[in-house]
Amino acid sequence: MPEFKRYLVTSALPYANGPVHIGHLAGVYIPSDIYVRYLRLKEKDVISVCGSDEHGVPITLKAKKEGVSPQEIVDRYHNIIKKSFEDFGIAFDIYSRTSNKIHYETASGFFKKLYDAGKFIEKTTEQYYDTQGNQFLADRYIKGTCPKCGYEEAYGDQCEKCGSALSPTDLINPKSTISGAELSLKETKHWYLPLDKHEPFLRKWILEDHKEWKPNVYGQCKSWLDNGLQPRAVSRDLDWGVPVPVENAEGKVLYVWFDAPIGYISATKELTPEWEKYWKSKDTKLVHFIGKDNIVFHCIIFPAMLKAEGSYILPDNVPANAFLNLENDKISTSKNWAVWLHEYLEDFKDKQDVLRYVLTANAPETKDNNFTWKNFQERNNGELVAILGNFVNRTLVLTKKYYDKKIPLPDKISENDKNILEKILKTKKDIEENIKVYKFRDALRAYMNLARVGNKYLADEEPWKQIKTNPDRVKTIMYVASQLTAALTILGEPFLPFTSKKLRKMINLPDAKWEDVDLGITKPGHKINEPELLFEKIEDKEIEYQINKLLKTKEDNKKETVELKPIKEMISFDDFQKLDIRVATIIDAEKVPKTKKLLKLTLDTGIDKRIVVSGIAEFYKPEEIIGKQVQVLVNLAPRKLKGIESQGMILMAEDSEGKLCFVSPEEKIETGSMIS
Ligand code: 2FM
Ligand code: ZN
Repeated sequence: MPEFKRYLVTSALPYANGPVHIGHLAGVYIPSDIYVRYLRLKEKDVISVCGSDEHGVPITLKAKKEGVSPQEIVDRYHNIIKKSFEDFGIAFDIYSRTSNKIHYETASGFFKKLYDAGKFIEKTTEQYYDTQGNQFLADRYIKGTCPKCGYEEAYGDQCEKCGSALSPTDLINPKSTISGAELSLKETKHWYLPLDKHEPFLRKWILEDHKEWKPNVYGQCKSWLDNGLQPRAVSRDLDWGVPVPVENAEGKVLYVWFDAPIGYISATKELTPEWEKYWKSKDTKLVHFIGKDNIVFHCIIFPAMLKAEGSYILPDNVPANAFLNLENDKISTSKNWAVWLHEYLEDFKDKQDVLRYVLTANAPETKDNNFTWKNFQERNNGELVAILGNFVNRTLVLTKKYYDKKIPLPDKISENDKNILEKILKTKKDIEENIKVYKFRDALRAYMNLARVGNKYLADEEPWKQIKTNPDRVKTIMYVASQLTAALTILGEPFLPFTSKKLRKMINLPDAKWEDVDLGITKPGHKINEPELLFEKIEDKEIEYQINKLLKTKEDNKKETVELKPIKEMISFDDFQKLDIRVATIIDAEKVPKTKKLLKLTLDTGIDKRIVVSGIAEFYKPEEIIGKQVQVLVNLAPRKLKGIESQGMILMAEDSEGKLCFVSPEEKIETGSMIS
């Protein structure tokens, strides 16, 4: 492993089109903050940069929806987001924005340098044009079916289901998301980064030199590379963004994914005149913290841009996380299915560390994970209050009571005491090793285990009982407990900065660093300050309030009309007459093994008994639907699903939440009746 002299840590620039929620924190900003705080405690040269991503279609879409200018949107949300990060102790060295002058200059300069060096291809192609709005439709304004996984709501630039990056023309059945208007193709000129030319380099750099990357990141890169890279347009026909800085480029701006990562560079420039030391020196370790939907941009496209430019370093690691769900449903800004950070603080004032703790303990590090309010309460009451808080409080309160706030001189140190003290060094090592490989959950678990050890030690030794009979022994116990408390103070800072700050004050270690953590941090005679409670119990009613708030959101969402899909292409009466739809009765149902979605149904169609495989297993249990009358298309050509021949299709309606519902006759009717 190369030795690095300094660290440059970037966190994905959030789009300034809405506030930030727990998914953002858990996926990107808490991990990056833990990493940076740890490095700072180790007294490393580290800078942490972030800022608002203020271009791109998410912003213009939001502005359109509200009937205001994009500038108004980004000004509003930049400030809200910045404040949320500050409130949660996400300690960036700079939180910048891509509408800054310095960013325009940096992004333009970067483009110009590549342009002048002949690193782009200029191509005129046909692109989708909205004939109603008289404008080219940006990728995000187009939705359609993903050619890779069949997801019907894929965007023109990316399928959020399978993560594939797409071009609008890849989509099957593309539609305008704004008007539903007919899309026509029209010629337009753009600049392309020939990713195919960078492929051999990227293959070696990622697949051979970075085998240590997280499996989800490495796997996604490999699949991209194995599919073959294509030239990718880096400009767009839009009026919001950094103008393309060459002649004859009116109405064209840099593609948001070209300018946004350059935002990391502009933010560093804004932060320090020594920015080149961080970006252009081989002994800097560059780490990008991102969510899984950003992998391709940070592992393939941005590195290809940096390599083409020639003077920059490439990331050493890109520890992307998966997504966090909320109460088993995907977090969604448009459905208001989220815990917004500013709202959390209104209800749980000064409890930033509780959320930081729960989100780290449940971080979606290897796969999507879930946040529930019940678990939030359990972790607070059962871990922060009952273990960490209890141990620290007992230690400090007893030190005050027995020794007038002075750490006592220990008496004889037993084998067990020694073992306990040695756990400090073991924990320190465990945390370090895990943080270095971006396993923050494991690091936090090791931390909490040290508190557990301390809590058990006091419960076993019962100094409050021994104080009368064996005061010398109690001196040793309290000495050992205070070493653990001091270690918990410092080692906890990356995870629980607010708690650590309070603890530093109480135990009077304002300046201790990571390397000061050893077996005897607080020397005998060291004076501590007034103890205070660190955590408080969260009551059932507080959790019920949050759950009810979410239930109400669900209700409100249901009331909103189902998003109507445009009418399909006209068919003739003859076409219609070809369909043979019958009333059938389900006479047997069973799950198709090794699938989540499929049920194998035996239907009595009146004409025959036949098998139909239907994708409804997530919504119905086999036993619930036996005897049900359904509508079935009986003359659909049979097809095999998981090795079973399906002879027909049951007609189902999809509700606003994606649930498939039977369209059954209102009253019982003879099986086999024809529907026309
Ligand atoms: O996915 C997003 O929210 C993007 N705004 C992230 C950009 S990261 C970087 F490249 F700026
Ligand atoms: Zn897909």
